[in-house]
Amino acid sequence: MKILLLNGPNLNLLGAREPGVYGSTSLLDIVDQLNLEAKELKVKLDDVQSNHEGELVTLIGESTGKYDGIVFNPGAYTHTSIALRDALQAVPVPCVEVHLSNTYQREEFRQRSLTAPACIGQVMGFGAASYSLALKGLVDFVKNAK
Ligand code: DQA
Repeated sequence: MKILLLNGPNLNLLGAREPGVYGSTSLLDIVDQLNLEAKELKVKLDDVQSNHEGELVTLIGESTGKYDGIVFNPGAYTHTSIALRDALQAVPVPCVEVHLSNTYQREEFRQRSLTAPACIGQVMGFGAASYSLALKGLVDFVKNAK
């Protein structure tokens, strides 16, 4: 099984960026930890972080046949991007949306996700552990769908 871990804008700054909201774990540490967990689950993980909406759209659009699933933190594009929602809807690859913070506890503009309706599920509010929970849920989903 092959999973794509996608991280959107500003997530490259994790660890230094608003640690009170996002914690002090860097993206590198999150990816390392997820790679360990993927190995245990016998899953191959590719990871990409991009600050560019179009690049994320392209990666999702090209995921068919390459990946069995996507773990995706779209960052702020969650709340703005019809293009990312359309990309997710255009491919049969199941996606789990991830957020470190509980966006429902935050500003009103973060309380709407344009991307979540195109995903099989959403995990948020558990900090870096949100990624682990999403990976586990996605792998179970893909196994059950096979
Ligand atoms: C985030 C939540 C978004 O609202 C914000 O724009 C981010 C990070 C999260 O992981 O909590 O960049 O996706």
